[in-house]
This record gives sequence, C-alpha cells and structure tokens, in this order.
Amino acid sequence: MYIFRIAMATDWKGRSIISLRDFDKKDVDLVLQQSKKMDTLLQKHGVLDAARGKVLATLFFEPSTRTRLSFETAMSRLGGKVIGFSGTEGTSVSKGETLSDTIQTAARYSDVMVMRHPLEGSARRASEISPVPVINGGDGANQHPTQTLLDLYTILKSKGRIGSLAITMVGDLKYSRTVHSLGYALAMFKGVKLNLVSPKELRMPSHYVDELSASMTIRETENLASAVKDSDIVYVTRIQRERFPDPQEYEQLKGSYVINRSVIARARKGVMVMHPLPRVDEISTGVDSLEQAAYFEQARNSIPVRMALLKLVMGV
Ligand code: NCD
Repeated sequence: MYIFRIAMATDWKGRSIISLRDFDKKDVDLVLQQSKKMDTLLQKHGVLDAARGKVLATLFFEPSTRTRLSFETAMSRLGGKVIGFSGTEGTSVSKGETLSDTIQTAARYSDVMVMRHPLEGSARRASEISPVPVINGGDGANQHPTQTLLDLYTILKSKGRIGSLAITMVGDLKYSRTVHSLGYALAMFKGVKLNLVSPKELRMPSHYVDELSASMTIRETENLASAVKDSDIVYVTRIQRERFPDPQEYEQLKGSYVINRSVIARARKGVMVMHPLPRVDEISTGVDSLEQAAYFEQARNSIPVRMALLKLVMGV
C-alpha cells in the first residue's frame, strides 16, 4: 500500500462533474496530468491509500458495464469502498420514490456519487440537491463527461497531443452523449478538424454544430470513406436504439456504417479507431487485433482517469 499525500487544487474538493461545459482548458489539463500520475502509481503500487474510509455510491438507473465497473475499480484502487445499485428494480425507485429523495438518501451514505439516468439534465438536478459531489455517468442523450476525459487521455497518450488532429466522428451523432461531450472538449484545443459522418436522420444537433464551428473546422457528410481517408482518429458510436421514439426508424438506420479491415486499409497508417463501447456491429471484430484499434485501451485508461477524478472531488 502506498500512502499518497500531495496538496491538490482545493477548488476541486466538493465539485460535481456534470458537463465539459463547466470546465475550462486548465481543468482539463489538470485532470489529464493527474490521470498520468495515477497511471504511474497504479502500475507501481496496484492499490493506493488515498480514499481509505471513503464511500462511493453508484446510482445506475440505466444499463452500464464499463462506466460502473471502472468507477468501482477506481474507487477500490484508491483504497475506498463502493455501494450502489444497477437498475431500479430492487430499489425504492420502483415504489415511486423521487430522484430527489433517492439522491438525498444516497448522499447520507457516501462521500461522492456517480449517477447514470435516462433523463437529460438529471445529473445537474442531482448536483443541486446533493451535499456530496455528483459525477455524471451519462444523462440521456446529453453528456458523458468522464468518458470524454478518458477519451482525451487515450488520445494524448497515443498521439502526444490533442490539438491539430483530424478527427472523424461516425454513427449516431444525434443521440450519442459521448460525442456531444467530446465536441465540447475538443473545442478547447487549437487546430482540430472535425468530420461528422452520419445518416442525415442522426446528424449532430445543430446547436452543437453551431457552437463548435466557432472554434474548429467542421465538415458534415454521409460519406465515410472520404472522411476517414485523412483522419488521425475515427471515433465510432453505436446507433442508440434505446433513444429512438420509433423502433422502425432504428431498424432502418442500424448498420448504416461499419468499420472493417478494408476501411482501415484505405485510411492513414497511424489512424486510431476509438469507440466508447458497447459496440453492436459498427466495428467488425476483425479490426480488434489491428494496432489501430484503441477501444479496449480506452476501457483500460478509464481507471486512472476515474481515480484522478474521484481523488480531486473528494479532496483526498
Ligand atoms: C456509452 C454511453 O453509455 O453513453 N458507453 C459508455 O459509457 N462507455 C456509449 C453507448 O452506450 O453507446
């Protein structure tokens, strides 16, 4: 066990993490720098002692594999404990308890909480009610800030920079919260060229495109091959079936884009293929063994990044 005691930026203690919009570039840089530190310590010591006696509550009103398990792992690696639920079936939510009452209760059992909820804005609301920091693990189609920070960390680790890259986002850009968050973050870095590839029904909502256009070059297209050709990063998303009001529309749009070996063969050699996961069929498994595939590395990198975030907001 390693006792980790370094003075942290005090204004982080007690802070909720709801949207990249609440961050400035200095905040992002600090998280990336602390994540690197956590990565080194993690590899050296396995378990730290920073969060001993602290409790993380994981409130997952929606399905999750990576976000929940990696937050649990991050808290364990910091020496803390985890309580929580996954799905509301076994909780008083199924008896009609309000979000506000659930949050007020969980806050009395924990030092920090991570919440995933189908309603946009729910994480912000929870943070207004909760006396302990709330981390947004995804609120509907809106935001997923911790995914973005681990995406940035993965890009930085592999490319050595985040600015001046050509990035192509592919798939369901309407409902994927991961790309909405990532867009806000990329706008903080200079010289990013962003290609948005989607069926026209699933384009990035115009308010994002308008806002992001102020800080980067954006090209929207339905043509995957032309966008991928000059990209440093291809960020693939799943068509978000659960968000479609009309299941038939999903049936028509599923399988719109598939990244396979022949797509990669026509891309730059150093292209990095990212995906927040889970995937359905948008990246063929034949790509997994290529050096361009970075998605399981993203899952791996979520641990030091989420350790850094937990540590910062708990002020330990
Ligand atoms: C994403 C999510 O939940 O938004 N998953 C994740 O957290 N890694 C992506 C998705 O569900 O498609």
